[in-house]
Amino acid sequence: MNTSKLIIPGGSASGTLSVPGDKSISIRAVLLSAIADGVSRLSGLSEGGDVVSAIKCTQQLGIEIHKNGDGSVTIYGNGLRGFKPTNDSLDCGNSGTTVRLLTSILSGQHHSYTVTGDDSLQKRPMERIITPLRRMGASINCLEKEGFIPYRITPTDLHAIHYTMPIASAQVKSAILLAGLYAQGTTIIKEPTLSRNHTEMMFTARGVDISIYTPQKEISLSPVKTIFPANVHIPGDISGAAFFIVLATILPDSHIIIKNVGINPTRTGILEVLQMMGAHITITNHHSIGGEETADIEVHSEDLYGTQISGEIIPRIIDELPIVAVAGAFAEGTTIIRDAQELRVKETDRINAICVNLRKMGTAIEEYKDGLLIRGKTGFNPAHFDSFNDHRIAMAFGVAGTVLNGESTIEGSEWADISFPGYFSLLNYVRGIPPN
Ligand code: S3P
Repeated sequence: MNTSKLIIPGGSASGTLSVPGDKSISIRAVLLSAIADGVSRLSGLSEGGDVVSAIKCTQQLGIEIHKNGDGSVTIYGNGLRGFKPTNDSLDCGNSGTTVRLLTSILSGQHHSYTVTGDDSLQKRPMERIITPLRRMGASINCLEKEGFIPYRITPTDLHAIHYTMPIASAQVKSAILLAGLYAQGTTIIKEPTLSRNHTEMMFTARGVDISIYTPQKEISLSPVKTIFPANVHIPGDISGAAFFIVLATILPDSHIIIKNVGINPTRTGILEVLQMMGAHITITNHHSIGGEETADIEVHSEDLYGTQISGEIIPRIIDELPIVAVAGAFAEGTTIIRDAQELRVKETDRINAICVNLRKMGTAIEEYKDGLLIRGKTGFNPAHFDSFNDHRIAMAFGVAGTVLNGESTIEGSEWADISFPGYFSLLNYVRGIPPN
């Protein structure tokens, strides 16, 4: 089912809002609670499609999960190697984080499993985790095409490796760390650029023996016999907040406060870049939620200027680049994004998706293998945007539609539910526009 959403332009964004729980933290919390010894309680968990996929897979693996009256979720962990056998494939849906992290955990179990996902996930590269996991002794047999799901994982004994990651990817790093829990010896990982560190933080909180050498971007980890259960509150997703930060910046006379957003420094590239572009963002009410730095983000509208984004910041802003591109389209001057070739292997080829949609607005752009150049304020035509079945593309061009010279539509708007159920209603609500 493809739903086309009408975007009525105009209004000013105002009020205090909250965004769904962080998707990356939610998925990790579900998976780690499932292999913990005992009962964990998670509150603030995202209800997005990707987290639902992670929950369904763990339930299929015999883990009991209860939703409580207050919205929190109780997970009855069954220990490191406690997953039950299942004859049906484990369907990770659209979720790259679920498939990559779950594959490692499954490699350490006593049973064989088949893993699959939706059409998009079946096209995403898995060789980046298969290669190091096989080096650790894992048995992963691709059933249709080498390097892609569906694949079959059969039980083996894992051993530690020293691995220098060829790309900066928190999913790859986390996959190796999770396999390291089951591996004999000390696993050492070196990443080229610092990526999000939620797995490392959760390991520390749940009693895993892990050492982190930040300047060297190196992590070492010893196997464990048990993981502690935990009661965790999950902060708001900065990747979801990013759309409203840009909305309030580019819509005149806006002023919003987004409550309790995770501001882990490995995720805040978006704040740095928007501030560099001239955005008026104030971070208040600093506190810690579940060990993660959290704060309220206050935004006033402001004129933006083009900027250049490349190098070490890319992994800290990777998911926000679609909305940064939209910000660039309404900024004075030129915005250039480079070193972002990873965008081509996300839920869709995001560089292509951004370019196609910006061109529809009339924005002058140049497409590169690893990014794009955007000439700001060159296009304001309303358009029929394509989500490319990608939640972040749907949401980014929803924001673009609010400042165009007429009504736009987003084809496949329902994909926003992957990380932000209710997104398009909120996009209207904060602008005082009645639901349509
Ligand atoms: C994620 C890591 C990033 C990001 C994805 C979530 C994670 O992917 O794009 O949305 O939760 O670890 P890569 O690790 O492939 O860069």
